[in-house]
Amino acid sequence: SWTPGAFVDLTVAELKEKIGDDKVVLGLSGGVDSTVAAMLLHKAIGKNLYCIFVNNGLLRKNEFEDVLHQYKDMGLNVKGVDSSARFLEALAGLSDPELKRKAIGNTFIEVFDDEAHEIKDVTYLAQGTIYPDVIESVSVNGPSVTIKSHHNVGGLPDFMKLKVVEPLRMLFKDEVRRVGAELGISKTLLGRHPFPGPGLAIRILGDITAEKVRILQEVDHIFIQGLRDWDLYDHVWQAGAILLPVQSVGVMGDERTYEQVVALRAVESTDGMTADWVNLPYEFLQKTSNTIINRVKGVNRVVYDISSKPPATIEWE
Ligand code: XMP
Repeated sequence: SWTPGAFVDLTVAELKEKIGDDKVVLGLSGGVDSTVAAMLLHKAIGKNLYCIFVNNGLLRKNEFEDVLHQYKDMGLNVKGVDSSARFLEALAGLSDPELKRKAIGNTFIEVFDDEAHEIKDVTYLAQGTIYPDVIESVSVNGPSVTIKSHHNVGGLPDFMKLKVVEPLRMLFKDEVRRVGAELGISKTLLGRHPFPGPGLAIRILGDITAEKVRILQEVDHIFIQGLRDWDLYDHVWQAGAILLPVQSVGVMGDERTYEQVVALRAVESTDGMTADWVNLPYEFLQKTSNTIINRVKGVNRVVYDISSKPPATIEWE
């Protein structure tokens, strides 16, 4: 029967045999799949694995720095590329969810192509594709860093001409987690909630500005940190905050305010295809709402999303 230990031994041997002394480039997302794929390859080929971790400026607060440190501690040969400004520029003025996704996907490809170019004589592109991605390759809810062929409008970027290696393509998510544990990847990293590739861009309804990103990062951070402090994080499948494109009236002292509204969302699910909103304790919601309104300038109202999927989706865009 299948065991993570046997899978690691066999896969590492196969990767060694297949790749030899060739160089491999891989895009890390901070998520479980790309991280486990990277660690398997690292075990097989060491420094010949070149990892690229792109900051699109739409990650959670401090996430780029935190995750980059963790990767370095794990011994990975990883280059962090901060392209926040480039992504913001590509997103400027866009409000349509699909246009935002496209702009982000295209910018990612440009950045990745530039970086892959810098590494001389690369033969392989590694991806953290898992089995559900293989069978749902037409689904819109793709994995965060899997590079899909429909992006290649007008000629392939250079890195896409590379041979592809996907060591996880026969595994389900729970198996990937078990392999990750076998490889010594921390529980915190393996237990991270799913996070969409377009990041906070699809949680800021309407157009995106640096200031809106900053506000949402603060709100999200308070919510997620709260879930951890209250031991709720591991009981929730996915959680996050959404910045709504409306302002509401409030009072502060004897002043009338007219500021942003944020929604909090936490769901239970097994695969993201269906989901139920989580019955978070009222005391937790009360505390979190107070903290957000007191600490985050520009927000004067917090609501909690009590919609299940279907018919609602997990994300609002
Ligand atoms: P929905 O909103 O469709 O989300 O119920 C289901 C799961 O997919 C994630 N999601 C995305 N992931 N790129 C991604 O990599 C996307 O464009 C995208 N849209 C949604 C969502 O976070 C949830 O886990």
